Amino acid sequence: MNFKEEIISLLEKETKLKREELANFISIPPDPKLGDYAFPCFKLGKNPKEEAEKLKEAIKEKLPSFILKIEAAGPYLNFFIKNKVIAEVTLTEVYKQAKRYGSSNFGKGQVIVMDYSHPNIAKPFGIGHLRSTVIGNSLYKTFQFLGYKPISVNHLGDWGTQFGKLIVAYTRWGDKKELEKDPIKYLLKLYVKFHAEVEKDETLNEEARAAFKSLEDGNRENLALWEEFKELSLKEFERIYQILDVTFDSYKGEAFVNKLVPEAITEIEKKVETKISEGALIVDLEKENLPPILLRKSDGASTYHSRDVAAALYRLKKYKADKMLYLVGSEQKLYFQQLFKLLELADYNRDKFVHADFGLFRFPEGKMSTRKGNVIFLEDVLNQAIILAEKIIEEKNPTLKNKKDVAKIVGVGAVIFADLSNDRIRNIDFDWDKMLSFEGETAPYIQYTHARACSILRKSELDVRDKINFERFGIEEEMRVVKLLYNFPEALEKVVKTYKPHHLAQYLISLAQAFNEFYHKCPVISEDKNIMKARLLLVDSVKRVLENGLGLLGIKAPEEM
Ligand code: ARG
Repeated sequence: MNFKEEIISLLEKETKLKREELANFISIPPDPKLGDYAFPCFKLGKNPKEEAEKLKEAIKEKLPSFILKIEAAGPYLNFFIKNKVIAEVTLTEVYKQAKRYGSSNFGKGQVIVMDYSHPNIAKPFGIGHLRSTVIGNSLYKTFQFLGYKPISVNHLGDWGTQFGKLIVAYTRWGDKKELEKDPIKYLLKLYVKFHAEVEKDETLNEEARAAFKSLEDGNRENLALWEEFKELSLKEFERIYQILDVTFDSYKGEAFVNKLVPEAITEIEKKVETKISEGALIVDLEKENLPPILLRKSDGASTYHSRDVAAALYRLKKYKADKMLYLVGSEQKLYFQQLFKLLELADYNRDKFVHADFGLFRFPEGKMSTRKGNVIFLEDVLNQAIILAEKIIEEKNPTLKNKKDVAKIVGVGAVIFADLSNDRIRNIDFDWDKMLSFEGETAPYIQYTHARACSILRKSELDVRDKINFERFGIEEEMRVVKLLYNFPEALEKVVKTYKPHHLAQYLISLAQAFNEFYHKCPVISEDKNIMKARLLLVDSVKRVLENGLGLLGIKAPEEM
């Protein structure tokens, strides 16, 4: 049963407001003493306080049976749900739906093409790529859970002028054995060397441009080199994806769409005025207050923008996308404004395109630069997190079975959660101690709470099929947990509407905190079998929702830790 929907129906008849409007107005009051739902009466008349009173009088005889009472408080009309009803509805539903609790048809029929992760070949998998990967992965899972049809595209950075530089560097100074030993580190070294040598000899730039052009023209030898760099890089990326447990529906990146660029440009030129400027093909966006878009370089080479135009047209057609979501850092904001503007000018529906941008993940060591070679290797970060988690587990629970597996789950979970618990727009400062702490807003805290719930359930022998007396619920700490469980689906809807997984992460923190307060206050193992059964069912429900919720963030929940 959806209480909010029922209240909307009640108010729809009385206020003549539209359902969507009502849905937006009705909120959950921050203080439970103000009820479970609040309706602000500002839209009903000049004096909302009076309107709240009037509305209360008008509906007080027509209340559905799940409502305990309504109260007018200032401009608000507050609704209180009966404890027994909300407990019964919620806990029965969680138990019945188990792993599917929270799932719905909310996004039925909607195809969402998601562009995320997209590391660059021959370069280290960066922290920005980690952010994109974990945010994308979590949104993908949540979309699926809510009935959407998401498609994940790993738009690999496997084409562009940098390959010209690499080919020049490798041909001049490269060593096959070194390359195979540690491909990305070695390619990075060559890339850095190239930029150092350019300082002395500018003609190298020309040479690199020519090398890239030869790639575009299909030069076999250079293509074979490129192929090798790509294969070796992907192998390394695959290791990271395995640690994170992430997969993709498509790996069609810049090299693939590069072949579609001429066709895409022809398509765009039918609708949008282009011009030649110093031999290059551009679209002037001055009228739109944006810098021009470069679609083709003077030597005929494609550009990052033109490859994105081709990718967009390809995906719209192939997947019949309703939405195209790009999970890319805020530093490319202007870039996507230009891209979307161009597509809009070419008569594509602007509303379909979303740049869900994010801030930086900052390390105490400072900002990274691939050109100078000072980078933090993500794989090292993940491995370090696993080692630290192992140490903590060794201290806290030395007899634990599968210590290594649990350490991996906890360490990796901590890194993912440090990212997802923040609004993606914000910058995050990386902090090992904070991230791995068993207290505070961390994955280990939630995982530990989940393991605690599992342990309570193991110790008791609950037969949850037994009849539960839902009248037994009523203590504040119990009801807070029940209501949070009831609101899980709403937290998920918020995630998909805003493309922000932190709404779910923060929800899980609240649930874990509420559960720990409940556990502190209310003994679960009790003489009174009725109370015990009811509370065990509550523990069981919390365990399930924590597990489901973490799963949607891409984090596992061990039974013991
Ligand atoms: N590979 C690019 C980078 O690392 C990000 C690609 C983003 N996606 C896109 N369709 N442009 O900066």
